[in-house]
Amino acid sequence: MIDLLSYKPQKEFSQKHLLRLSDYTPDEILQVLSLALKLKKQLQEGLRPPLLSGKILAMIFTKSSTRTRVSFEAGIYQLGGTAQFLSGSDIQLGRGEPISDTAKVLSRMVDGIMIRTFKQSDVEDLAKYGTIPVINGLTDLLHPCQILADLMTYYEYKGSFSGKLAFIGDGNNVANSLLVGCGKLGLDMTLACPKGFEPDAEVLAAARQAAAQSGAKLVITHDAREAAEGADAVYTDVWASMGQESGAQDKYKHFTGFQVNEKLTSLCKKDYIFMHCLPAHRGEEVSASVIDGPNSVVFDEAENRLHAQKAVMALLMK
Ligand code: CP
Ligand code: NVA
Repeated sequence: MIDLLSYKPQKEFSQKHLLRLSDYTPDEILQVLSLALKLKKQLQEGLRPPLLSGKILAMIFTKSSTRTRVSFEAGIYQLGGTAQFLSGSDIQLGRGEPISDTAKVLSRMVDGIMIRTFKQSDVEDLAKYGTIPVINGLTDLLHPCQILADLMTYYEYKGSFSGKLAFIGDGNNVANSLLVGCGKLGLDMTLACPKGFEPDAEVLAAARQAAAQSGAKLVITHDAREAAEGADAVYTDVWASMGQESGAQDKYKHFTGFQVNEKLTSLCKKDYIFMHCLPAHRGEEVSASVIDGPNSVVFDEAENRLHAQKAVMALLMK
C-alpha cells in the first residue's frame, strides 16, 4: 500500500516533454499521479489552483477525439490558461508545411503543444525543432496520457500497483504504452493477442527493461484465458484503431475468442475491474454486459484523463 497523495519525490521533476512513457522514471510517473490525485481532490472541493495562469496550449489533431480534446481544453482552463484547437486539415501542416517549421512558429506564440497524429516521429520532431513542451496525445505507436489516467484509476481501486493486469485484444498503441506503464511501476501484465497482432517489439523491449528494475512480470501470450486467469484488472481496446478502418472486417476474423465477455471475466478475481480507454465497440472487443456491468471503471478512466493531464501540463508548462 502506498499513499500517493503524500508521495515524496526522489528527484526534482526535470522532463521537458511527454513523448513516451519510457522516457520517465518511476519516480516521475508517481509525481504525475500524485499531483493528479491532489488536483482531483481540490476540484471536488471546488478549488481550481491557477497553476498555468495566462498560459496557452496549442492542440493539433489529425485524428478524431472526444476525451483527449475535451480533457486538455477543460484542464488548462481550470488551471487558469487557455487552449487552441488546431485541426490538421485546417492548419498549413495539412497542406504540407513541414513539422519543423510548425514547431518553430508555435514556439514563438504559445506555451505548449499537445498533438494527436499518426507518426510517432512527427511528435518527436515537434519537440526537436520547437522550444516548448510537447505532449503526445496519441500516435499509431503510443498513448502515454491514457496510461497515466489508467494507472491512476488502478491505484484508486486497488490501493497499490501490485497485482495482475490482463490486456486482451490488439497489440496496439494503448497496449504498447500500458506495457511500459506496468513495467515502470511493477504491475504484472499479461497481454493476450491473436498471432500476428503482437505489441511493438521495440516498445516491448523498453517495457521489459523497466520491468527488470521494478520486478513486474510481463507476459505475451495468444491465450486469452491464460491472461484472464486470476487477473485484478482486464483491459481491452478496439480491434481496429484510427487509420486502420479499411480492412477491419478481415482483421476481426483473427480475433475470435478475444472478446472480453462474462465467460472470460469469470476467470478473473471476483473484485476485478474492467478497463477500456474508450471509445468502445460493444459486441466486438467487449460484451455490453461487461462494459456496462458492475465491475466496469471505464468512466473513471475517462474522468481521470482530465486530472492526469492537468498534472502533466502543470509539471511541464509552469
Ligand atoms: N481514449 C481516448 O483517447 O479517447 P478520445 O479518442 O476520445 O480522445
Ligand atoms: N487504439 C485506439 C485508441 C483510441 C483512443 C486508436 O488508436 O484508435
